[in-house]
Amino acid sequence: MAQLIDGKKISQEIKDELKERVAKLKEQGRTGALAVIQVGTDPASSVYVRNKKNACAYIGIESLSYELPEETTQQELLALIEKLNEDDHVRGILVQLPVPAHIDENAIIRAIRPDKDVDGFHPQSVGAMTIGQKGFLPCTPAGIIQLLKRSGIEIAGKHCVVIGRSNIVGKPMALLLLRENGTVTIAHSRTQNLKELCRQADILVVAIGKPRFIGADYIKEGAVVIDVGIHRNENNKLCGDVNFEEAEPLASAITPVPGGVGPMTIAMLMNNCVESIAGIEG
Ligand code: GUN
Repeated sequence: MAQLIDGKKISQEIKDELKERVAKLKEQGRTGALAVIQVGTDPASSVYVRNKKNACAYIGIESLSYELPEETTQQELLALIEKLNEDDHVRGILVQLPVPAHIDENAIIRAIRPDKDVDGFHPQSVGAMTIGQKGFLPCTPAGIIQLLKRSGIEIAGKHCVVIGRSNIVGKPMALLLLRENGTVTIAHSRTQNLKELCRQADILVVAIGKPRFIGADYIKEGAVVIDVGIHRNENNKLCGDVNFEEAEPLASAITPVPGGVGPMTIAMLMNNCVESIAGIEG
């Protein structure tokens, strides 16, 4: 039986630690707000945004909500970001992605001042992470590092295989595992012999974007399996990129979907907001 890595429980612990820190910061007169911007009404984005605002309320930080219509121009969005950049009370700015197709996502990411970039998406934040300097870390990969550490899983010296090379998950995940002294391989859609490669992994992080794709034949006995995927199957049930029933008997530890990686993203966003209020970036 694999150890179940309980992201719900670990994220709750982190949020409770942050709640205490926020209360202490308040006593010292240090407060600040997270600005959450959503353009359009994509239902999945609305759920994420609501969860982020609820997490702010739970830990005791103010959230400022900007729900902009689908037709908002890039210029209007940039003007709002500029206004929030200049507002000292705003300590974090989050633009929920994706933005509508007529808006250049990269231009939006670059417009957010790096000391308010609590998503860790700005090229300066990415560069700082890459060379081990101060800056906000992207929330999902930082959350996975916390899941591993708080579950007592050693990263140093382990062969970590990351499947996926997105800017939000795969690439930063590989860098953070490297920072923890893992030996890291990045695999992707063009990788040859993916099964054989995955079977060499001590820690397998799966962000491939295909429901239940990773079965028993991709997993070495005793491996740690981290599933970043989230999909709805034909019965409207949530599932990940890993075939959990096949993987669980082989793994030494595994994340479930839901309740694994998912809740960690918001916990780490809250961590970045609190660091920003405290005046310690990253
Ligand atoms: N869309 C999907 N994931 C994220 C995220 O972590 N941050 C933002 N801003 N948008 C997202």
